[in-house]
Amino acid sequence: MTAINPVTDLARDGDIALITVDSPPVNALSAAVRDGIATALDQAIADAECRAIVLICAGRTFIAGADISEFGKPMQGIGLHELLNKIESSPKPVIAAIHGTALGGGLETALAAHWRIAVPSAKFGLPEVKLGLLPGAGGTQRLPRLVGVERALAMVTSGTPIGAADAARSGLIDATAEETRLREDAIALARRALGEPNPLKKVRDLPVQAEPGMFDSFRKAHARKFRGFDAPEYNIRCIEAAVTQPFEEGLATERRLFLDLMDGVQSRAQRYLFFAERQAAKIPGLSEGIAPRPIARVGVIGAGTMGGGISMNFLSAGIPVTIVETNEAALERGVGIMRRNYDNTAQKGRLTPQAVEQAMARLAPSLSLDDLADCDLIIEAVFENLDLKKQIFSRLDTIAKAGAILASNTSYLDIDAIAAVTQRPSDVLGMHFFSPANVMRLLEIVRGAKTSPDVLATAMAIGRRIGKVPVVAGVCHGFIGNRMLEPRQRAANALILEGAMPWDVDRALTEFGMPMGPFQMADLAGLDIGWSRETSRGETLRDRLCEMDRRGQKTGAGFYDYDEKRTPTPSPIVERLVLEQSAGAGIQRRTIAPEEILERCTYPMIDEGARILEENIAYRASDIDIVWLYGYGWPAYRGGPMFYGDTVGLATVADKLRRYGHEPSARLTKLAEEGRGFTTG
Ligand code: 3HC
Ligand code: NAI
Repeated sequence: MTAINPVTDLARDGDIALITVDSPPVNALSAAVRDGIATALDQAIADAECRAIVLICAGRTFIAGADISEFGKPMQGIGLHELLNKIESSPKPVIAAIHGTALGGGLETALAAHWRIAVPSAKFGLPEVKLGLLPGAGGTQRLPRLVGVERALAMVTSGTPIGAADAARSGLIDATAEETRLREDAIALARRALGEPNPLKKVRDLPVQAEPGMFDSFRKAHARKFRGFDAPEYNIRCIEAAVTQPFEEGLATERRLFLDLMDGVQSRAQRYLFFAERQAAKIPGLSEGIAPRPIARVGVIGAGTMGGGISMNFLSAGIPVTIVETNEAALERGVGIMRRNYDNTAQKGRLTPQAVEQAMARLAPSLSLDDLADCDLIIEAVFENLDLKKQIFSRLDTIAKAGAILASNTSYLDIDAIAAVTQRPSDVLGMHFFSPANVMRLLEIVRGAKTSPDVLATAMAIGRRIGKVPVVAGVCHGFIGNRMLEPRQRAANALILEGAMPWDVDRALTEFGMPMGPFQMADLAGLDIGWSRETSRGETLRDRLCEMDRRGQKTGAGFYDYDEKRTPTPSPIVERLVLEQSAGAGIQRRTIAPEEILERCTYPMIDEGARILEENIAYRASDIDIVWLYGYGWPAYRGGPMFYGDTVGLATVADKLRRYGHEPSARLTKLAEEGRGFTTG
């Protein structure tokens, strides 16, 4: 065996050369990997005793793509196109031997090889669209030639990988290896290939065609999903080019469109988020080796909106749950809703009926907190009331076993005050799920003043195990996400007093890419959260709507009117109330442009984010962006509020804030003066 460079080896097994890439963690195609493969290939081709070449990877995966961290930097070493050309035009057959994930540039490398073999657990995908890109190394031209236009369209626009069985059926791979014998089976395939009439088969030579109208109907069918994003459309155009243009021309089209996307702000935002998400998993000052506590059983208190959804996460991940309510009716209702949710998922074919039964069988409903004695993690999700939560935590302190973690799902309340009623504040923290808790991926982990490092590490680990993206926040009113909602809501309320209607505000935000605006959100959550008839002063628009029993979607009316299908329409009653409120406050209404609405709603959020950083509530600006991406549906192509602030320019944000009568924070002011950004340093 010869070491070609630190990340590539070349060996020979009889007449077959083996190129092994070993560049942890994921064998991304860095300059060293590209150069290593190219040099090894040259040597194998020059080696008179070698007749075929196997390309294989060490470690956990085949090449998982281009090296994203090299993007936007000057190119070094051999280019990927040149390398793939070299592979495809090799006079000796090249066999890609695949395990783990062949993604992006990795799959494109395999597509340039003459033969492909994979183990049954391997996965194949072109996830570039998720980075706001398209496969820029021939993927859009070769994939449809192998698997057909329809499948290729689905793969490049969703970015979702397919499994080995699917890959074999669709012709993406030529053979399946035994799980633990990839190397041997690939060598055997190489020898077999040499006996075939055309051992040097090239994907580029295959024909490709599409049904008339196919591309347009694909666009129509997915219009909602692709809304706002550039990359899906660019990917479709490339597949179209594969059908309408000769191979080389198609490659040139792909190259051109790839560079367009690469230069754009959308891809910059999405690549930033890729690393931001991984960064959020890292807790400064927490030593690497810290062992999380084992979690074998979870307790959930409260089977309401949140308790039910929270429980489902654990049940689906195979972790048994004891759920506690105050009375039989509430318990039955809560458990019934969980079952209905599971059944609906099964009906859509996303879960087997057996999986539903298995999940529900892991649930132990109870009316007594004493039944939580054997739980390793207990999550409280009762009404948002500090006294009630304190009462529950002091009871839990006497019930929970030693070492159990006690968490609250509170949206706003002081975790330290809750921890203080127990004898074990170091075992207490916040685990703030987002509604619907079985769907939304964000999990804010609220670190109390006394939360111990291993408790924090355990919460992060269990969060990931149930498929969430955990982000650490410090204790303050509303933590990261909800705290930033408040300035937006204040701005929205001021805007409707000054001249906009609720639907104007909502439209400005949905056109920006948010799934809904503040008034749609209020209608969904219920206007009466924290409101009561006894204490209502009938002053605000919300007071008046609640008094009229317009409490949001659940009552069929709120800021909007709803039909049976919950389709909203602007309400003339609300319009009248809004006008009355302005008149009552002596305000001369004016027309407010959508840009002003957008600036006044988003810039104060950016400023609040700056304060959150100032107070060390979030470790980094990118954590705030991850909160908004996964908790509130901030459009990925805008990278999150802090990244967005940077793209606008913080000097502009600060100036505009002042013009709107909002004094920016010290942090924002300083960065703006220094011409810096939150995420750009
Ligand atoms: N480039 C650079 N670094 C990468 C990378 C890549 N393509 N893929 C993963 N990494 C890094 C991650 O940042 C992480 O680093 P860290 O440990 O320092 O945080 C480490 O590798 C491990 O990654 P994960 O934590 O994500 O590990 P998982 O095992 O959960 O997942 C994976 C592995 C499925 C490969 C996942 O990392 C992934 O989806 N990677 C991205 C794949 C991708 O998008 N490829 C296409 C790239 S674009 C391209 O190829 C353009 C081409 O068409 C020209
Ligand atoms: P909910 O009103 O739907 O459910 C609360 C449940 O707790 C009720 O079923 C009630 O019977 C039960 N309960 C009350 N006292 C109890 C006790 N002593 N023992 C056991 N059960 C008890 O409320 P929801 O919306 O689920 O909220 C729960 C918590 O989650 C609150 O702290 C809330 O702020 C927080 N939260 C809510 C979100 C939402 O969107 N609804 C989002 C994130 C957090």
